[in-house]
Amino acid sequence: MSTESTKKPWSGRFKAEVDELAEKLNASLSFDARLFRHDIRGSIAHTKVLQRAGILTRKEADTIIRGLREVESEIAGGGFVLSPELEDIHMAVEKRLTEKIGPLGGKLHTGRSRNDQVALDVRLYLKDEIREILKLVGKFKKALYVLAKRHTETVMPGYTHLQRAQPVLLSHHLLAYYQMLKRDGERLLDCLKRVDVMPLGSGALAGSPYNLDREYARRLLGFSSVTENSMDGVSDRDFVLEFLSCAAILMMHLSRLAEEIVLWSSQEFGFIELSDKYSTGSSIMPQKKNPDLAELARGKTGRVYGNLMAVLTVMKALPLAYNKDMQEDKEPLFDTVDTLKAVLAVFARMLRTMKVRRSKMRKATVEGFLTATDAADYLAAKGVPFRKAHEVVGKAVAYCIERGKGLEELDLGEWQRFSPLFEADIKDVVAVERSLNSRKVRGGTSVESVKKQLEMVERELKKG
Ligand code: ARG
Repeated sequence: MSTESTKKPWSGRFKAEVDELAEKLNASLSFDARLFRHDIRGSIAHTKVLQRAGILTRKEADTIIRGLREVESEIAGGGFVLSPELEDIHMAVEKRLTEKIGPLGGKLHTGRSRNDQVALDVRLYLKDEIREILKLVGKFKKALYVLAKRHTETVMPGYTHLQRAQPVLLSHHLLAYYQMLKRDGERLLDCLKRVDVMPLGSGALAGSPYNLDREYARRLLGFSSVTENSMDGVSDRDFVLEFLSCAAILMMHLSRLAEEIVLWSSQEFGFIELSDKYSTGSSIMPQKKNPDLAELARGKTGRVYGNLMAVLTVMKALPLAYNKDMQEDKEPLFDTVDTLKAVLAVFARMLRTMKVRRSKMRKATVEGFLTATDAADYLAAKGVPFRKAHEVVGKAVAYCIERGKGLEELDLGEWQRFSPLFEADIKDVVAVERSLNSRKVRGGTSVESVKKQLEMVERELKKG
């Protein structure tokens, strides 16, 4: 038999108690408890709105608000045990409030439903978290910038198909990631606009029958606007999906840099050495130093993609308005927030502390004919159709491969076997620095262009 203390707030029309296993499956408290501060903030605002509507007296409102604040500190201090039969955080807070202030606590839910309440809580939560994530993205961009600034003279092979392609500056390579992260930040900021909408007043689905001042609620809770349709307000989670999509793209970018760090720290590349602080050893092979944290950044991209797919699938074909399916939005959302924050923070530190082996990078640019395109462009500039020039230089490369030589080691006589148009200056043209610095186009890899990029980045970072 249910006693007063275990009774559900919705039990009026029920004769039997809910099955124990069903109760367990139904409960979301184990994960939505993390929303308690936002839930209480929303309830305090709602109390003020009820007072303004004349539904609560000033004294009643004050008592409720004081009670809610006490519940908040109890939960924060671990003094209130959140047991699963309380179902979810909304009911847990209300229950504890009623225990504290008596039947008056039951007035709090006037003109409100858990449906608009949960939509509000998630929006409040996500607004806070997006701002935190944006700060971390800012730090990450800064770490890339600092490293890029240090390496405006560090030459390395740029790759396509993971084959050495053309020489680039390490600085240029890193700033490519800066641009990606910059767009990730912009996407999140844009997503924030659609999260920043206040749903309270939507009630269960049809809107509240009380004269609630939604504009007042919006101001109290610091939202930019209010939802314009109550059914939409309680039943969509596109703002969650949008955030999860932004997160998936961001993790995709991080996974690419992570993969490069894994490769670069291998003996085969030897381009970088990670700090001991961000590496781990092997339990059996004493010589090992593994880039586990880069690997995890790469690996955790999987769960962030999975979380997006999970919520897309939960929402698919759901009839309006609220459905309990939507309770399944929370764990994927929380997991993505946690993962993103953890990965961004560690990754930035890993970048700041890694050691770059400049000479290894430089050496890799002379092995592999990275300036072959420059030799072809040289002939093209003398009127040879580029396709033809490509073929001529291809033959010169084949000649070098046979003799185990680099392009820069060919003498003029050898060059002229392939085309009489080659003159003494071809020697300079195939030199790595010269190749690199010929790419003075905006966005190119010459020292000059990269310095301009860096200046632009510096201005952006200052603006914040
Ligand atoms: N725990 C629920 C959720 O996360 C809250 C809303 C429940 N509403 C309801 N009418 N059962 O979605």
